[in-house]
Amino acid sequence: MAEATSKFTPRIFSGIQPSGGLTLGNYLGALKRFVEKQNEGIETIYCLVDLHAITVWQDPEKLRAQTREAAAGFLAAGIDPKRSILFNQSQVPGHAQLAWIFNCVARMGWMGRMTQWKDKTAGKNAEAESLGLFAYPSLMAADILLYHATHVPVGEDQKQHLELTRDIAAKFNHDYGVDFFPITEPVIEGAATRVMSLRDGSKKMSKSDPSDASRINLTDEADAISQKFRKAKTDPEPLPETLDGLKDRPEAKNLVNIYAALAEMTPEAVITEFGGKGFGTFKPALVDLAVAKLSPISTEMKRLMADPAEIDRILGDGAERADAIASPILRQAYDIVGMIRSRP
Ligand code: AMP
Ligand code: TRP
Repeated sequence: MAEATSKFTPRIFSGIQPSGGLTLGNYLGALKRFVEKQNEGIETIYCLVDLHAITVWQDPEKLRAQTREAAAGFLAAGIDPKRSILFNQSQVPGHAQLAWIFNCVARMGWMGRMTQWKDKTAGKNAEAESLGLFAYPSLMAADILLYHATHVPVGEDQKQHLELTRDIAAKFNHDYGVDFFPITEPVIEGAATRVMSLRDGSKKMSKSDPSDASRINLTDEADAISQKFRKAKTDPEPLPETLDGLKDRPEAKNLVNIYAALAEMTPEAVITEFGGKGFGTFKPALVDLAVAKLSPISTEMKRLMADPAEIDRILGDGAERADAIASPILRQAYDIVGMIRSRP
């Protein structure tokens, strides 16, 4: 473990926005790995970041439903609410409170350089975006540092935000002359840290893509999974004999990586098995694998979503346990900054 984090007990934190249904990208890039970390016995805290979701407009009833659906996805994928803490961000006030302090530590220029901000405002009038969208990475740093988390498993697209989290921690520690916040390590691992759209190998698979055919949703049933993979864009060549041969074939590379991550194989091993074979052979094998791995999750999600009160109970219990960790850390941060706390 890196030296900078060594005085801190290993603790994992990560979050997913409930701004739409969970996708195969979320599952392979994040959720599946959250379960692995939980099962390694490290302390794990997972958060549905509803305050991040409202940085772009969300219909209130849909947001509530999507938050419950995402919670069901976590549980169905193997998050055990007794071993991990699972909760929604807005139920622990410390996230917003620490984010305000970080808004005063971070610089406007840092936020303006974030590629996610640039992507989300590309071709639009940035002046008309919410102030929350601009400050989004500051809230994300607060999510992580509120728990003194040392490790954050995420997909590739979050790397820059985690670098910024380290910058915020370092500037806070430096400005106040303390060694209070850990310098968090990103954990970006596995064959599928960036799952691409099934329609366009140059675009990330995303819950907000207007085309449903571009993604596999965790709620998709066997038929939909099969249809979407069969129609996935590819090229006419057979799979190459070596990984190198996938270099300029983003769609083929994406399907190989998805297969590898689902089968828990390396992409090399997939190429060893399927090299020289056409998509007529590879796609049906991928469909069988994906259906075997994913349809139990969608079935379990449906069962869980039939009892929203139980989901709310789990989130409430998680929020209480999260708050018990967060409150003393927030109190110390306020003390360091110079706030008076004299209320009984
Ligand atoms: P989001 O859906 O943007 O809240 O992302 C939640 C988590 O899923 C983050 O760790 C992302 O990096 C990860 N993630 C989202 N989309 C993908 C994708 N297409 N491939 C890999 N990881 C992803
Ligand atoms: N920004 C992340 C995403 O869109 C979600 C997120 C919010 C997050 N807070 C976090 C991820 C804290 C890891 C840790 O994917």
